[in-house]
Amino acid sequence: MTALVLLACLLAGGGGGAVTSSSNPSSPSSTPTLGQAAAHHNIRVGAAADSPYLSDNNYAAILGSEFSQLQAENEMKFSIIHPLSNGYHFSGGDALTSFAQAHNRAVRGDTLVWHNQVPSWVTNGNYNSMPLATILQDHITTVMGHYAGKVYAWDVVNEAFNSDGSMRSTIWYDQPGIGFAFMGTKYIEQTLTWAHAADANALLFYNDYGAETMNAKSDAIYAMAQDFKSRNVPLDGIGFQLHIDLSFDDPNTLASVASNMQRFAALGLIFHITESDIRLSDSSAASFNAQAKLYGEIATLCVQQPACKLFHTWGLTDKYSWIPSFFPREGWALLWDANYQKKLAYNSVLNALQ
Ligand code: XIL
Repeated sequence: MTALVLLACLLAGGGGGAVTSSSNPSSPSSTPTLGQAAAHHNIRVGAAADSPYLSDNNYAAILGSEFSQLQAENEMKFSIIHPLSNGYHFSGGDALTSFAQAHNRAVRGDTLVWHNQVPSWVTNGNYNSMPLATILQDHITTVMGHYAGKVYAWDVVNEAFNSDGSMRSTIWYDQPGIGFAFMGTKYIEQTLTWAHAADANALLFYNDYGAETMNAKSDAIYAMAQDFKSRNVPLDGIGFQLHIDLSFDDPNTLASVASNMQRFAALGLIFHITESDIRLSDSSAASFNAQAKLYGEIATLCVQQPACKLFHTWGLTDKYSWIPSFFPREGWALLWDANYQKKLAYNSVLNALQ
């Protein structure tokens, strides 16, 4: 690592090193922010963000003050960052990265290999495996190269497994795939290898939903991780998305999350809670209380597991949450309400992180 890259990496909070409270200065008497509270546990706290919202002053003020990192909710995904075969569109990701640097925050990248948000020039291109592999490798190399020294960790592959643990059928795996169709996790191994070659300093993650507890999907991810670790495939961590609802607040479920986290930690992997939100079906006081309790329990699980290095929510305000458009009649999932008031859930997470 050159001195220049090392410096840039440190300034961006890169390399997964210690999270210091000095990057989040405050007077000792003031109430800490989420980022400051979690820094004592060597955990970062972040939120998914979209650059157009930075012109909303309340949004920018919270994003710039409360968190120790941010992640693009959409603007580093394939269809947005690489919308044309010969054209990259970095402006959204760059705006977020500049904002993060100006506020001394780390940036996490999401995502390089996913079946959703793939542009039509790829999905309708009728490419066979060889050119598709070239397209994907170029994409990974270009995007990671552009953000080298600025983005400390990447979700390289997102959501590659079905809930029964089988491989999801996708353009990258077997439709037609990049050359490893029906060979299980080989294509994931290939993309991790490309990613490591593109930026050897970035932490590389596999990210998924519904794999938080011990179940068929997390078993499959665990088997992959165990195999990769035994053969030195460059995998640093697992991202657990944690898009959940109140049914998750069950002692057996929470105990299962703790056991699951522990088995990944025992492999020498770190993990990140990458996309946490707790959706509600109404805005009653009872629901907000229950949500606060569950958010606190999740943050506590992260604090209690040394391999948990990130507590990240999928947005910060209910005003812009993805939930209402994807889960009809549900919403109210984040830590600030649509008027930027802190919800009970905010206090609960802060208490758990302190
Ligand atoms: C979602 C975004 O929040 C939406 O704005 C977008 O329209 C679709 O994608 N799992 C993921 C995220 O990995 O990338 C998804 O983000 C939410 C589910």
